[in-house]
Amino acid sequence: MYQQLLSNPKINSLVGDLSKPLNFSLLAVAVTIIALIYSKSSFSDPNSPMFDEAAHPDSLVVSTYNLSQLSEFDGSGPTKIILIGICGKVYDVTSKPQFYGPQGPYGVFAGRDATMALAKNSLTSEFIPKSGDKIYDLSQLSDKEKEALDGWVSFFDNKYEVVGSVVF
Ligand code: HEM
Repeated sequence: MYQQLLSNPKINSLVGDLSKPLNFSLLAVAVTIIALIYSKSSFSDPNSPMFDEAAHPDSLVVSTYNLSQLSEFDGSGPTKIILIGICGKVYDVTSKPQFYGPQGPYGVFAGRDATMALAKNSLTSEFIPKSGDKIYDLSQLSDKEKEALDGWVSFFDNKYEVVGSVVF
């Protein structure tokens, strides 16, 4: 079979050409360039198993957020990322702008710590800490409020990705 292929004058001349060092080097360079282009495109495709974690927006890398840093992720920034702090964890809720976007019913929580508001079942700013505020005191909550808060933590744990922790 191999002999037959080589006896074909076209294939024979191609194989002969490739055995020349310059032609072989050119082929190697071409293969490398194609491989590089292919690998770059699959690194930028989130569905690719080769997706490069380091290329994620900063917020998706697990880190700590103080209230001021958290407030940058209220969905109004160029990345449209929306984060919410609850009981020390930061959840990425970007997938639900209909809830947490500026027009959403829970937009007041976007880029905020919603712990106390959820415990108190309130959407008023009174329970939403601002930068510089002292950390809330969960021991002051009633059993009912603690239970409600636990329920919300389970809800968010099940539905959203934790991308960091809140520091006061
Ligand atoms: C009259 C009062 C309220 C009504 C009728 C109401 C209604 C709803 C409904 C129907 C959903 C489910 C939406 C869905 O999954 O499609 C929802 C989700 C939610 N509600 Fe309310 N709600 C009320 C008050 C509140 C208050 C006071 C808070 C906060 C303290 C709150 C926080 C939330 C949160 C965090 C979600 C989850 C959204 C998500 O899936 O991420 N709600 N609400």
